[in-house]
This record gives sequence, structure tokens and C-alpha cells, in this order.
Amino acid sequence: MIIGVPKEVKDHEARVGLLPSGAKALVEAGHTVLTQAGAGVGSTLTDEEYRHAGAQIVPMAAELWSKSDLVVKVKEPQPSEYPFLRPGLVLFTYLHLAPLPELTDKMLETRVNGVAYETIREADGSLPLLTPMSEVAGRMASQVGAQYLEAPMGGRGILLGGVPGVSPANVVIIGGGVVGHHAAKIAVGLGAHVTIIDRDLERLRQLDDIYSSQIVTLASNEYTIRESLRLADLVIGAVLIPGASAPRLVRRDMLSQMKKGALMVDVAIDQGGCFETSHATTHTDPIYFVDGVLHYCVSNMPAAVPHTSTFALNNATFPYLMELANRGLEGACAHSPAIREGVNTYQGHVVYPAVAESQGKPWKQFSAVV
Ligand SMILES: NC(=O)c1ccc[n+]([C@@H]2O[C@H](COP(=O)([O-])OP(=O)(O)OC[C@H]3O[C@@H](n4cnc5c(N)ncnc54)[C@H](O)[C@@H]3O)[C@@H](O)[C@H]2O)c1
Repeated sequence: MIIGVPKEVKDHEARVGLLPSGAKALVEAGHTVLTQAGAGVGSTLTDEEYRHAGAQIVPMAAELWSKSDLVVKVKEPQPSEYPFLRPGLVLFTYLHLAPLPELTDKMLETRVNGVAYETIREADGSLPLLTPMSEVAGRMASQVGAQYLEAPMGGRGILLGGVPGVSPANVVIIGGGVVGHHAAKIAVGLGAHVTIIDRDLERLRQLDDIYSSQIVTLASNEYTIRESLRLADLVIGAVLIPGASAPRLVRRDMLSQMKKGALMVDVAIDQGGCFETSHATTHTDPIYFVDGVLHYCVSNMPAAVPHTSTFALNNATFPYLMELANRGLEGACAHSPAIREGVNTYQGHVVYPAVAESQGKPWKQFSAVV
């Protein structure tokens, strides 16, 4: 199989979908690897390292996409990449299609077979290709929170951990999954007062066991969210319903009761966001105010730490990529239910129900169209 690794084009996106070590393993398994010139540079990986691993360096994106059977990348295709989509191409990347009807239509129209990292699901219910970036984004959410709560950055001028004699900041985390857990780890480490809200009581029990009296856990409902927001300095949105648009748990009217200069970090923005007032922002222009409350809604947070993120991502994605390369998409799906769960679009059909439901589109079982 010919596997292409393009240079990412999303704002400040410097991660790359394949490491030189992965290129070497694929070439040794009999595949051809094409890497776009400079694809790894933002993650401190040179063209020379890819060449040394056996990859061929291709100067332009158009040539790379047109020659590849499978393109492995990081972020969903951007409009400048739409002309490269074509029938039969296998695209292995984060897609987050639910809140992106335009991209979904484009993928259906061009009959690209899209395998989404974020919906590959193992038998135990885990999402192994979402986890590493959620670990990064969760830890970053508290770091970013600490930074934007500083007055020169627009925040209310509060130190997350306080100092002796002065209260720490109140951090409210909505969604206690991977993002929420890692956000809590950093916020607790910095000395903040942390509350985690989740609808899954079993998850709250686990978090309570881990953090004991260092955090407060609350069952998710409108009342607990509203009351917690009134006291919050930093709110981190981290809920997920796999593949679907995020539920809008914080409504605009709740903001009027919040402290002026409080900060809301909506990590779930890649699934449309869990605050009514969220819209996606970029690393170039990350924040905006609504009703005196600061919002940070960057949809590719891990791109800010590309070295860490690229290695963490590839640790998780590579075994699945090798399976796709060795068996082809259909063979890999027949062999691995986890990979089959990752297929969102196939030959012009939506085959992942949560994506179709989020957009009011029809869908088909993968087994019915393969
Ligand atoms: N912005 C970024 O750069 C970035 C990076 C990584 C992950 N993410 C996103 O962060 C989000 C969270 O990812 P994750 O890996 O932590 O997911 P996860 O599945 O591990 O955790 C989600 C949690 O949300 C909880 N939840 C669902 N509905 C809820 C509700 N109504 N009230 C309270 N809790 C609820 C679930 O019980 C679960 O514990 C996802 O949308 C993911 O795509 C964004």
C-alpha cells in the first residue's frame, strides 16, 4: 500500500501523523511511505530522518494525496485540502464530523472512506486514539486556565493556587473522563479548589477514590451546574458523547450569574462545544468575551505542544495504521471491530449513526454497504 503523510495546514497545527520509526516499520513490511517535505518539522522531525527511515519525500501536497492509497494525518481536512479528496481514498485522521456538515457532505460527495481516530473503540468501551490527545488537552486546560486568569491576559487576576492567607481559585470541571481527570490532576497540583461534575456516578466514585478529599464530585444536572458556575473562576468543559455533538450544558443565561473575568475553557469544542456561547477559536486568536466571561475554545489545543503530542498520538495510532496497511480497510474491519467502529464514511454513505443523527442525515450499517 502507498501511505501518504501530508504536512498539516490547520492554524498552528504542527503535529504529524507518522513518526520516522513508523515509516521504517511500514517500509520493512513492504509498503511505500510518501512524506510531504517539512511534514515533521514542527514536531522536531526532519525530512532527513524520514528519508533515512525509507520514506520518499514529496514536495507538494497535491502530488502526495494523488499518489497515496491511504493518507494518515492529524486534523480533519481543511477547505484547501478538499480538492484532494477522491473516491476510494482511505483517510485515517481525527474527523470530528458531527459538528461539521460541510466537511461531511464533501466526504460523501467525493466517496472518501473516512476512518476517524476519535471513534475507534475497543471492546471495553475505551477510545484509545482519543485518549492521548485528551490527556494532553486536559493537562493544558488547567495550564491555559492559569495563564488566562492573569489580569494582563484578560482574566480576573487570580492565582490558581492562592497563597497562604488568600483562597485558591475555584475550578469547575464538567465531564470527568480523560480530559477532566487530567485537568484535575494539574489544577489540584497547582493548589486550586477543584469540583468535577459528571453524569456517570461510577466515574465519580473512581475520581473520589483517586483524589479523596482533594476534590469535590457532583452529579451532573442543571442545578449543580448552575450553582457551581456562580462560584467558579475557571470552568473546563470536557463532556463527550462519542461521535455526537456535545450537549450544551451551560446556557447563556447562566453566564450572567458568573464572576466577571472568570474563564471558560471549552475543550469539547471539537465536538461543537458544551457551552451555548462557545465557538471554535484558533491558537492565533484563542479568546473572546461573552457577558464579561472570557472564553477559550481552541479546537486543536494539543497542537501547541507538537513534540509531546505527535509522539503521544503516534504511540496510540500506529498499531491501527499497520493493521490498515497490511489488511486494507475492508480486511482490517473484518478482523478488528475497533477499526470498524472508526469508519464514519464509506463509499458515499455515513456509516456512523451518531454523526448522521447530529446532522439529520440518513446512515447505513457498514456491513450493508461493504
Ligand atoms: N479541543 C481539543 O483540542 C481537544 C483535544 C482532545 C480532546 N478533546 C475533546 O474533549 C472532549 C472530552 O474527551 P474525553 O476523552 O475526556 O472523553 P471521555 O469519554 O473520557 O469523557 C467524557 C465524560 O463526559 C461525561 N459526560 C457525558 N455527558 C455528560 C453530562 N451531560 N454531564 C456531565 N458529564 C457528562 C461522561 O460521563 C464522561 O465521563 C471530547 O469532545 C474530545 O473530543 C478536545
